[in-house]
Amino acid sequence: MKKLIFAIGIMLCMAGCGASKQNITVEQPTENSVKKAVVTETADVPQTQDGETAQNTDTAANDTIVVYFSREGEQYNVGVIDKGNTAIIADIIAEEKNADMFRLYPAVDNYPTAYKELTDYAKKEQAENARPELLGTIDNWEDYDTVYLGYPIWWGDMPMIVYSFIESYDMSKKTVIPFCTHEGSGMSGTDEKLKQMLPDSTVLAGLAVQGKTAQKNDDSVKQTVKDWLADK
Ligand SMILES: Cc1cc2nc3c(=O)[nH]c(=O)nc-3n(C[C@H](O)[C@H](O)[C@H](O)COP(=O)(O)O)c2cc1C
Repeated sequence: MKKLIFAIGIMLCMAGCGASKQNITVEQPTENSVKKAVVTETADVPQTQDGETAQNTDTAANDTIVVYFSREGEQYNVGVIDKGNTAIIADIIAEEKNADMFRLYPAVDNYPTAYKELTDYAKKEQAENARPELLGTIDNWEDYDTVYLGYPIWWGDMPMIVYSFIESYDMSKKTVIPFCTHEGSGMSGTDEKLKQMLPDSTVLAGLAVQGKTAQKNDDSVKQTVKDWLADK
């Protein structure tokens, strides 16, 4: 049902929310590895000369990682964005938990940047039960006890690349904490699905944030995430 509502939403959006053809370029990296959280507090934080926030230089082994998938480009309800909705939530979690980060990219990026094309592409990928190959690896996977797993809801489910990730790494004995962004479906049962898929992991209840809300990236979004993290 939630999928159907979303499908109707897509049609309305195509008709009315200005999903015009534009030249949208999104750079995909050629290499991918674990990153440190980006810290935005001012105290003791290295700043680049032009004032940009630098990455956390703490090199101590970390037991928490945020793994997420997210797309820039044209997205439902928010137009063309240069930072994905899920990426925004992932950054907040990583900063709060001082966690490492690994963003899921496909080894070969065929995802369209125009919204309608992306929905068609994702639908096909889902119908084929595809497992897109991942770019890069988490070499120190055994260091992590806790995995925050983030994704946008695509057609009522996790994007297939998230399944690629889950099946590529030993998730047993890890605590898996899902979070997603969406435009009406909430978690869409994905946390329950993860529980079934990962019987040897501890899967906690997820956080679902509307993509449009996440994109604001304001204090209220940060507070929502902090409140959810409080008992984790
Ligand atoms: C291929 C595709 C399918 C989507 N399917 C759904 C859906 O079934 N339910 C929903 O609520 N939102 C759906 N959305 C909206 C996204 O979940 C939402 O825009 C999300 O915030 C995008 O996150 P990102 O910017 O991190 O990629 C879909 C978006 C795309 C591109």
